[in-house]
Amino acid sequence: MAKSSSKAAAQKATAKPVFVLNGPNLNLLGQREPEIYGSTTLADVEAQVKARAKTLGLNVICRQSNHEGELVDWIHEAREMASGVILNAGAYSHTSIAIHDALATLDIPVIEVHISNVYKRESFRHHSTISSVATGVICGLGTIGYELALEAVKNKLTQK
Ligand code: DQA
Repeated sequence: MAKSSSKAAAQKATAKPVFVLNGPNLNLLGQREPEIYGSTTLADVEAQVKARAKTLGLNVICRQSNHEGELVDWIHEAREMASGVILNAGAYSHTSIAIHDALATLDIPVIEVHISNVYKRESFRHHSTISSVATGVICGLGTIGYELALEAVKNKLTQK
């Protein structure tokens, strides 16, 4: 592909925002079990993600919900409205077939994020219902995982 048309293709691929979705209890980041999740708040995480998005030439829409159905609705919205999805579904990652089924309808990059290393924790956190329908998983790196996920989405959208 000629240089100008590949640039146009990359611009088209990244024209829609990346949805950054956080599930239950992640509104309490910074207060909740700081020895596991750290002291960074969700507002801090969203500010960091927006700053990283700017440097990558991406737009992001950040949302958080404690309700499974609302997360499903946002994933449905992403079918038309998003170029990628970054999802920390919290505890629903281990239980939700509804979120699995919603993600399975997407044909855009989906990155599953966990702040903590779930494999070092209780065995009920070792299984994810959503990893099998995610493009990739970032786990155990702390809140920088969201920024790394954004880089991964950019890479997926622009790579040949
Ligand atoms: C989490 C890990 C989940 O097991 C837990 O239920 C969460 C947060 C994480 O980011 O490490 O709420 O997804």
